[in-house]
Amino acid sequence: MNAAVKVEPEFERARAYAMPLEEIDPARTDRFHNDTIWPYFERLRREDPIHFTPDSDFGAYWSIVRWDDIMAVDTDHEAFSSAQGIGLPNKAVMAEQEKVLGEAPRRRGGAGFITMDPPDHGPRRKAVSPTLAPANLAKMSSVVRERAGEILDSLPIGVEFDWVDRVSKELTAMTLATLFDFPFEERRKLPYWSDMFMNIPGHGPVKSWQHKIEAIGECFGAFDALRSERASSEPGIDLISMLTHNPATQDMDADEYHGTVVLLIVGGNDTTRNTISGSVYALNKHPDQYDKLRANPDLVLPMVSETIRWQTPLAHMSRVATRDVEIGGKTIRAGDRVAMWYISGNRDESHVESPDAFIIDRERPRQHMSFGFGIHRCVGNRVAEMQLTIIWEEILKRFPRIELAGEPVRSWSSFVHGWESMPVVIPARA
Ligand code: HEM
Repeated sequence: MNAAVKVEPEFERARAYAMPLEEIDPARTDRFHNDTIWPYFERLRREDPIHFTPDSDFGAYWSIVRWDDIMAVDTDHEAFSSAQGIGLPNKAVMAEQEKVLGEAPRRRGGAGFITMDPPDHGPRRKAVSPTLAPANLAKMSSVVRERAGEILDSLPIGVEFDWVDRVSKELTAMTLATLFDFPFEERRKLPYWSDMFMNIPGHGPVKSWQHKIEAIGECFGAFDALRSERASSEPGIDLISMLTHNPATQDMDADEYHGTVVLLIVGGNDTTRNTISGSVYALNKHPDQYDKLRANPDLVLPMVSETIRWQTPLAHMSRVATRDVEIGGKTIRAGDRVAMWYISGNRDESHVESPDAFIIDRERPRQHMSFGFGIHRCVGNRVAEMQLTIIWEEILKRFPRIELAGEPVRSWSSFVHGWESMPVVIPARA
């Protein structure tokens, strides 16, 4: 694990503004890990909102950093394709991965319908949507509430523990297990597999490429077994039943099925986990807002949306241009890679008032870019909001405060924006 270097914000700001504009590489992972990204995005929003980085760990790419421009790119799926991947590809990691995973074809499988354009995308997205829709979630909510209560009741009082591990991962694991109808006692395998998919050796739980391959093989084996079992039973409302009984998805080959499994595991994991951790972090850094929440628990829902904006659990999504496109006086050429920086759009001062502030009772709390827009807009957004709302309603019933007990360790990623660990203490009541 890379130790975070503490950098004074004013020093970083001066550096961001002194640097030649063309040298700014917004995707530099160390700046995400050290939380020093903000002045770079601020400068780009002001001075170069359609910004080109000619060479980087991720190759050449364009950065789109303002709200309106991100919206324009995200809603134009004809000019900006998802089919070549939706995260900026790290060159060294890709080469290494290709070398290792290339020998294990069963373990490939893309990333499901998020990496598809029309006409392939729509029917596949539609197949899983009923499980994630409000009507089904309403049926699930009492189970989620009961299980969330059990997680909270098991927490130690007056003793430091890791919030990411004990609460954020546990809550997302149990919700995902419920959505998949995955064996409940094995639920922690889901966030474990998600971490194994998303990390490279030396980060998260991944010790080596071999270790990663083994975990992926184990995951696909388990989901192959679920697929056969669900295909031969009466359909339930879970995600695997949806995939095995819908004509658009029931005949997928193994690679595509595996890709869809990866999308559903990863899509629902890091994002929600980091929002849960983000809410504890944000409320601790803004004690006046925490007081406001305690005084009025009806603010839980807008607080959840404000956390999703302020945190922006996925910092960017990426596309490849299918033709030359003029935007903001620049020409993006066919074949160029583009990053839409949601994390910057959410801090665009021309669109959000006092964007750096965390304010839990904003007038329009759901107005943020964190779920994207257009045909790929997050299909799990209601699941995420439900989990967050329930856990906070249950927290407020039990604990007057959860206190940060040190600086948390941030993820090593410019895609997933979150934490590896977060030490907290729940003080004993006086
Ligand atoms: C706060 C939590 C979450 C955030 C911030 C988030 C964010 C996103 C974003 C940014 C996209 C792509 C949007 C675009 O390209 O325009 C996306 C797509 C997606 N998300 Fe989420 N997500 C969250 C929770 C979830 C959950 C809980 C699930 C599933 C249980 C999920 C499943 C998916 C899927 C399947 C897609 C692909 C949709 C498509 O391609 O049509 N997400 N999400």
